[in-house]
Amino acid sequence: MENMKAFIFTRYAKSNNIAFADLPRPALKPDEILVQVHAAGLNPIDNAIPKGTFKPFLKFQLPATLGSDLAGVVVEVGSRVTRFKPGDAVFASIFDLGTGALAEFAVVTENAAAHKPANLDFVQAASIPMVGLTSWQALKERAKLKPGQKVFIPAGSGGIGTFAIQLAKHLGAKVGTTTSTGNVALVKSLGADEVIDYKQQEFEDVLRNYDAVLGTVRGDALEKSLRILKPGSNVVSLIGPPDATFARSRSMGFFFTFVFGLLSRKIIRQTRKRGVEYSFLFVHPDGGQLAEISKLLEAGRIRPVIDRVFPFAQAKEALAYLETGRAKGKVVVQMVKM
Ligand SMILES: NC(=O)c1ccc[n+]([C@@H]2O[C@H](COP(=O)([O-])OP(=O)(O)OC[C@H]3O[C@@H](n4cnc5c(N)ncnc54)[C@H](OP(=O)(O)O)[C@@H]3O)[C@@H](O)[C@H]2O)c1
Repeated sequence: MENMKAFIFTRYAKSNNIAFADLPRPALKPDEILVQVHAAGLNPIDNAIPKGTFKPFLKFQLPATLGSDLAGVVVEVGSRVTRFKPGDAVFASIFDLGTGALAEFAVVTENAAAHKPANLDFVQAASIPMVGLTSWQALKERAKLKPGQKVFIPAGSGGIGTFAIQLAKHLGAKVGTTTSTGNVALVKSLGADEVIDYKQQEFEDVLRNYDAVLGTVRGDALEKSLRILKPGSNVVSLIGPPDATFARSRSMGFFFTFVFGLLSRKIIRQTRKRGVEYSFLFVHPDGGQLAEISKLLEAGRIRPVIDRVFPFAQAKEALAYLETGRAKGKVVVQMVKM
């Protein structure tokens, strides 16, 4: 069997556990496609997974390949695959499937993949899947944003922020966001209506009457954001605390349902007191939703925002750059030069 280069983690640890390795090309199950990865988009979860943060709910067989988002070309299809054929350009998020994107070849479940937007190159397409799906699931499915409603999307210059602002505007909402002084022009160019430079002002002193908040910033930002919400509004947190509903949705058993119930007790009490609904969102791969997102990209309603592109040989440096928490848009690793 042919080998391939992959960027892997060998064990769960805080450091010294990620490296390149030569691995056999993965074998396909009937509902899977094998993709030659041209580019892999990075997300904060790619730094968290090898540290063991998500060990209770994301299952990897170690050593495991890192990376969640990819764009590339189909080279082989499983016997039951109907929507893709060798030669098709695709993009996908595979973070919840136990496989990895930071490799020359990656296995993708047919259901997780979509055809690459025709107007994007592989680097641009690889920057989209997780932030696109998360924004879609948070703003459309959970918050059910309606035209004219106001949504607060903190950290507007990050991977999530740069996509979510554009999706919220497409849905007809008004968008408030926070960012540092140097990124104010960027978030305004994406359509943000109320921009708080968090170096100069506290958002909770300025913003009022919001219908939804996306929880994207750690610390006390989530609690403070309750002050800007109307009764009947929604808090969709991407950063936790996880709640009992989330544990039940992943069949995590009594222990985790109990523990997550305890972890989320305070925020749920605070939100209920204000007539606000709290939920924790853990994005799930979905090729159907990616195909919908692809239409918005092809129509020019949403554009990718890319900060830096690293060659595959510098995957470790790319992850370290993302970990600084200062990326303006997305960080992408490129395997195949265009
Ligand atoms: N639950 C889920 O399914 C899910 C899915 C995707 C992401 N997430 C989580 O969502 C969070 C955001 O992800 P991301 O991809 O957007 O991360 P990211 O791209 O690394 O975010 C970096 C951006 O955050 C901004 N930022 C940092 N601290 C800030 C603050 N205090 N106020 C305002 N902006 C701040 C920075 O702008 P400045 O330099 O201007 O500060 C930078 O542009 C992460 O914690 C990630 O793990 C969760």
